[in-house]
Amino acid sequence: MDLKLKIWRQKNSSDQGQIVDYDIKGVSPDMSFLEMLDVLNTELIEKGDDPVAFDHDCREGICGMCSLQINGKPHGPDAAITTCQLHMRKFNDGDTIYIEPFRSRAFPVVKDLVVDRSAFDRIQHAGGYISVNTSGNTQDANAIPVNKDNADHAFDAATCIGCGACVAACKNASAMLFVSAKVSQYALLPQGQVERKKRAEQMVAQMDAEGFGACTNTGACSAECPKEISLTNIARLNREFLNSKFN
Ligand code: SF4
Ligand code: FES
Repeated sequence: MDLKLKIWRQKNSSDQGQIVDYDIKGVSPDMSFLEMLDVLNTELIEKGDDPVAFDHDCREGICGMCSLQINGKPHGPDAAITTCQLHMRKFNDGDTIYIEPFRSRAFPVVKDLVVDRSAFDRIQHAGGYISVNTSGNTQDANAIPVNKDNADHAFDAATCIGCGACVAACKNASAMLFVSAKVSQYALLPQGQVERKKRAEQMVAQMDAEGFGACTNTGACSAECPKEISLTNIARLNREFLNSKFN
């Protein structure tokens, strides 16, 4: 396939940035999207040009590092996958593909397609943890009974990989789906009860401090989430938040 790529290039966080056109030829439909960018970067390096900076790590959909807005959609045209799991067979010969970073005031561009998502780390530090007795008398987790429904819902919430696609998809750049997944996985398990009363309040306060927008229930976050995190988690977060205010 021969493709025209329109890629966001930005030297650093203070540079204005712009879309730059690239032609790439002979792309195999079996390549992953990131392999296609690897080929482009090899060509740029051989010509002495600056390669396109983009985030990636596991390349198997589990680390949350890859983060491209492809033709206006976080993680591209396929449902329930990350950018690293996207294959070029989803595109056609002669296509024009726009490739941009995830955009949000709370995710400043570092360079080209790389954004700083450390705001998510700070939200996690505000409440995304549990206290465990490490005195030597720690109870084996497998010996603590957990209701099957709660276990299933907690596991589903825990599949959030912190990629930030929910923020990029939301017209308000809200981080509610991410925060709700993190709050839910602990609220539903016995191990998460020690900090439960303050967790939602603290994580929401940090979310607001980072500059993420409010939730207006449009559901774009869940629709674009590669792990299909459910909106029911946002309802649970709202309940947890109210409970933390009254306790
Ligand atoms: S909720 Fe989904 S889209 Fe948002 S950070 Fe988690 S995995 Fe990514
Ligand atoms: S590179 Fe790890 S999820 Fe895509």
